[in-house]
Amino acid sequence: MPRELPIGSLLESEDARPARVLAHKLNRHTFWCGQSGSGKTFALGVLLEQVLLHTRMPLVVLDPNSDFVRLGEVRDDAPEAEAAQLSQRDIRVLRPGGAGVARSLHARFLDMPVRSRAAVVNLDPVHDADEYNGLLQVEAEVPLIEQGRLLEFLRSSGDAMRHRLAMRLENLGVTDWNLWAWGHRSVTDEIDDRPDATVVDLGGFPTQAESRTAALAVLDHLWETREERVGRLIVIDEAHNLCRPDPATPLEALLTERIVQIAAEGRKYGLWLLLSTQRPSKVHPDALSQCDNLALMRMSSPRDLGELADVFGYVPASLLERSPGFAQGQALFAGGFVELPALVQVGNRLTHEGGSDVSVSLR
Ligand SMILES: Nc1ncnc2c1ncn2[C@@H]1O[C@H](COP(=O)(O)OP(=O)(O)OP(=O)(O)O)[C@@H](O)[C@H]1O
Ligand SMILES: [Mg+2]
Repeated sequence: MPRELPIGSLLESEDARPARVLAHKLNRHTFWCGQSGSGKTFALGVLLEQVLLHTRMPLVVLDPNSDFVRLGEVRDDAPEAEAAQLSQRDIRVLRPGGAGVARSLHARFLDMPVRSRAAVVNLDPVHDADEYNGLLQVEAEVPLIEQGRLLEFLRSSGDAMRHRLAMRLENLGVTDWNLWAWGHRSVTDEIDDRPDATVVDLGGFPTQAESRTAALAVLDHLWETREERVGRLIVIDEAHNLCRPDPATPLEALLTERIVQIAAEGRKYGLWLLLSTQRPSKVHPDALSQCDNLALMRMSSPRDLGELADVFGYVPASLLERSPGFAQGQALFAGGFVELPALVQVGNRLTHEGGSDVSVSLR
């Protein structure tokens, strides 16, 4: 039976008729956009709560601003029935260093594909051909390396290239990252347990490289295990951080490539993306063009709206044009996941928001 997820009310309907998203059509990629403060993250939370209530589809949330770290905490004003159901869901929040109910967010360096490890240490296969090749030469011996002994291993031979790799790891500070599991559970172990939701808090790392590496470890793993065909929703808020049209470092390039690959080929393996960002031009066009569902919140730039009209040709222009006039929490939903394109006032949250806006303190 198709499940309809209530997400708010239809704008301009006479008696605020409920607006619904078709759960079974979340097996497409979704693009969610709107300018800062339009209410994307809040509204996304409303949808994710409904997914948790009504589906068994595991969620993986890449959360750069720690906005979803309280997804497991039900609000006092939530209706009793929903509150009871939500509190039974297995929602795992992974944060750098743990804290409170959150688990520590870790990844295993040597479990990552060699291309990813090279990107983490800023090696490009063409521009840094020698060192990159040195890394490849070590590959056959990787299974022999004891946990936590990578540097010693590289230095134990007299090989000059291995010494250089060790130096690179150390100089970039990569070996000191708190991200590494050193025998603890890694984020991929948590995902493999298939909890209802895994919230990966990418905020709070001291460097962007560490945060991006955590995201890459997750995406690599989801791609590598795609044959399991689990049917997961991979939510990437602030997707421009991870899927840039103009990646500058090997790490950014590989992240973008991975997301574009999932966008292009992931659907049939049950890897469904939900990309949220402020402007369509901020994410790679090859990821954007694969999205079938659109949620558009307030966006006043005509150029951005023109770009959306190009990509989502089926959305009536008369509805796209309404976006600059949207109040906070209002959205246009279009594409397969709604019966018909609709203007919606997003409903209330059942769980707490994470880091909300900072207010001006008054004297
Ligand atoms: N529908 C809503 N009802 C009540 N408050 C809302 C609603 N939508 C957003 N807000 C509040 O407005 C603020 C900004 O919303 P939100 O963080 O969702 O915006 P955003 O579009 O994700 O912005 P950014 O692009 O900067 O992340 C938050 O403090 C949130 O609590
Ligand atoms: Mg946001």
